[in-house]
Amino acid sequence: MADLKGWVPRLAGQAVLVIGDVFLDEYLIGRATRMSREAPIPVLEFEQRQLIPGGAANPAANIVALGSAALQVGVIGSDSTGTMLRQVLQGRGIDIGSLVVDAGRPTTVKTRILAQMGLRFPQQVARLDTLSRQPISEAVERQVVEAVQLRLPEARAVLFSDYHTGLLTASLVERVRETAEGAGLLLTADAQGRLDQYSGFGIVKCNADEARAYLRRDLSSDEDFAAAALELRERLALTLGMVITRGADGATLARADGTTQHCPAPAVTDVYDTVGAGDTTIAVLTLAALGGAPLDEATMLANTASGLVVRRVGNYAPRPDELLGALESWGGE
Ligand SMILES: Nc1ncnc2c1ncn2[C@@H]1O[C@H](COP(=O)(O)OP(=O)(O)O)[C@@H](O)[C@H]1O
Ligand SMILES: [Mg+2]
Repeated sequence: MADLKGWVPRLAGQAVLVIGDVFLDEYLIGRATRMSREAPIPVLEFEQRQLIPGGAANPAANIVALGSAALQVGVIGSDSTGTMLRQVLQGRGIDIGSLVVDAGRPTTVKTRILAQMGLRFPQQVARLDTLSRQPISEAVERQVVEAVQLRLPEARAVLFSDYHTGLLTASLVERVRETAEGAGLLLTADAQGRLDQYSGFGIVKCNADEARAYLRRDLSSDEDFAAAALELRERLALTLGMVITRGADGATLARADGTTQHCPAPAVTDVYDTVGAGDTTIAVLTLAALGGAPLDEATMLANTASGLVVRRVGNYAPRPDELLGALESWGGE
């Protein structure tokens, strides 16, 4: 078993340009006091509001928390939530100098309403999304490409985080890919299943359901996932490899040399909410690859970091000391 702890310091000191659909994750928490007389719903008395980086801003937050720089490229609206999102990202130390404002669309906000009932974690009652699924216009795309070209010399990798709200059009991905490849940068992507646009990349990650949907077949055993990872690696001509994450079962990878490997997840207790686990996975895979880790060790580090995220409500960005602690107590496997 490799000493994974040795990689943790190497996750720091890198610079990654993170491009994708940025969101504001809003949590409105209230105490459940009684049932409403207006509808069969609880009445909540407001207690607190939490604002967290969401969508493509979450891998950026993870990169910063691990000690590296994240240059965020994305589109926000010309609205008050856009201002709030900027503040939230800045508060996390994300470089927001290259966010593009599109007055024609709202800033994406995902609002969760949570009822506090004296349990350890509040319960989600409803979610309200404010978003546009329209692809960005050519004019906005041009601004985004310019922003990327301006900042690319500062980065060693480009991480694409596609949450399907219109930024990562095929033509934008292609233009950014050409520029970044020309500069010799590592390209990584979590496309939430929309894999076609990412051929020729270094590392692409999807989850088990996304792999099933893309390949149009059921996958259950380790062998099924190994064959799937291999097929996706080949189809997309990935230069380092394909990683399929499998929730509590960990992740299966396929390398460019045609070999595959299953990396089990640590036995995490108190799994509360798996939101954001995949964002942490792609952030750690990217940083570990930049730091020189082979894909299997990068995946084991990603599993451990994601294991810390699933114990929390909503997105979370583990720090190096937490990752070291988890590698110590979970054995890194
Ligand atoms: N219940 C769990 N127990 C332990 N680790 C988990 C659990 N769920 C997710 N993870 C970790 O998070 C990673 C990504 O989770 P997954 O749910 O597969 O991806 P996504 O968030 O993209 O849907 C997994 O590979 C695993 O390491
Ligand atoms: Mg995901």
